[in-house]
Amino acid sequence: MTDLGFLHQFVPAPSGASADTLLLLHGTGGDENDLLPLGKLLAPNANLLSPRGKISENGMPRFFRRLAEGVFDIPDLIARTHELAGFIAVASNAYGFDPKRVVAAGFSNGANIAASLLLLRPGVLRATVLLHAMVPLVPETVPDLTGTRVFLGAGRQDPVATPDETEKLAALLRGAGADVTTQWQPGGHGLTREEALAAAEWLAGSPGS
Ligand code: MLT
Repeated sequence: MTDLGFLHQFVPAPSGASADTLLLLHGTGGDENDLLPLGKLLAPNANLLSPRGKISENGMPRFFRRLAEGVFDIPDLIARTHELAGFIAVASNAYGFDPKRVVAAGFSNGANIAASLLLLRPGVLRATVLLHAMVPLVPETVPDLTGTRVFLGAGRQDPVATPDETEKLAALLRGAGADVTTQWQPGGHGLTREEALAAAEWLAGSPGS
């Protein structure tokens, strides 16, 4: 199998290809292996599809370029978002998973491109776990996200994905019709076990707080 356009890992679901597929999107400096343990915790019965971001920022993989911390290169973000949507379609063909049953889970930079996928390519993701996400961009037209479930994991002391950003992202997604659940942790920009467990519970169907 070629890399299908992205270096990636694919871990088939224990129950076979009829399962959901969890698209795992790492943070800056991560790679395709980083979030596999999180994926198994979040969705033990799903296929796991984990690409490596194609941008290198001083050797650190990312999913799109930024001009400075928190200042995104919007044309690049838009192009990379569509490229990632294309990868999901190609991987679905190659591995035989159902493209209508793709759920994304992203952390930081990965959560930002997952949010961009929601906003620019509604219908690609059935549900999304965004951990420490920001507003990646404001789309020209409001997408219809009716029926799309979104979990926002956020830190009250997060200096990067600030509480204000979290509230703005929640409002943007709700304005598009998404069903948004926000889960607050007291801490900063790191991933916590508590939020991973809360996201797993939410994904299993119990929305939580
Ligand atoms: C990061 O470090 O990944 C940023 O805080 C988020 C981003 O640049 O997308």
